[in-house]
Amino acid sequence: MPKVTIDGHTIEVPEGTTILNAARMIGGDIVPPAMCYYSKLATSGGYCRTCIVQVTKGSEKDPRPMPKPVASCRTTVMDGMEVKNITSPELLEARKGVVEFLLINHPLDCPICDQAGECHLQDLSYEHGLNKSRYDFKRREFEKIDIGDKIKLHMTRCILCYRCVKVAEQICPGRVHGVMNRGDVAEISTYIKNSVDNEWSGNMIDVCPVGALTDKTFRFKSRVWFTKPMDAHRKCETCSGKAVLWLSGDEVLRVTGRKDKYGELEDWICNTCRFEKKNKSDWTMEGPRHIDRHSVISQNHYESLKQLKIDVSKQKKIAEKAHQS
Ligand code: SF4
Ligand code: FES
Repeated sequence: MPKVTIDGHTIEVPEGTTILNAARMIGGDIVPPAMCYYSKLATSGGYCRTCIVQVTKGSEKDPRPMPKPVASCRTTVMDGMEVKNITSPELLEARKGVVEFLLINHPLDCPICDQAGECHLQDLSYEHGLNKSRYDFKRREFEKIDIGDKIKLHMTRCILCYRCVKVAEQICPGRVHGVMNRGDVAEISTYIKNSVDNEWSGNMIDVCPVGALTDKTFRFKSRVWFTKPMDAHRKCETCSGKAVLWLSGDEVLRVTGRKDKYGELEDWICNTCRFEKKNKSDWTMEGPRHIDRHSVISQNHYESLKQLKIDVSKQKKIAEKAHQS
């Protein structure tokens, strides 16, 4: 088993493990951010460069450092490798550059974007970004389009991470969308505005790290931090039926899959569960959803609040006694 040291933490990992996954095995702040890699989607990663790290020692056999930062999601660990992430100021500076590039064309429309509060780019720019743009040229602009009756595509917000394309390729039957063109004219599109219409297409919304693909049944209904996420399940013949209901009072505003601390879905869910089951009575409620990401949505959720168990007969006796006296 090759041994790797990341920011001073050493771990032995199975052959073929990437630096990013080795860092995830260690956990904590040393885990590089990942905007395009998705552990459940084969061949994802290598597009966004947010996960770059500095390899200060290549391996025990060849200890030369790698000359430039490498994408940790695509670089496999070698025995004796030493890696720096948050302990390297130069690397953090380089990541700042990557974030600046990602934001070149991305509109700063968080106040009106449905993804605000759970947008990985928003978190990333908060942690690593500059507080102003140095870009003077015109940004790319696109019309918003409907790809199917449930999904809205705001291409202006897309960072071309390819996650939705991988979902279409690997999860959905019959892919009808992908990346058209190359370079600064590359865009996500369907073939002549075809509709993305199959039982698994909603998962594209969940994997999109920004607000480029949004749920038309939820758009502009609420800010996500005003909603209450609850774990719930139902008997479904197509998917696991394990979801998160985002509630406002008793109203189910949206249904999503359950995401782990890296923002990745634990299970794909089908469109019937996602879009058609919007009544609380359709679901068996489990309890408040634990939100792992340090996002604003994890604020004000009293998931460990213990409800007082009230013994009604005891309460009645106390009230009677008080009344008599
Ligand atoms: S639409 Fe979203 S998931 Fe698809 S490539 Fe763009 S940013 Fe990635
Ligand atoms: S997460 Fe590694 S390049 Fe995007």
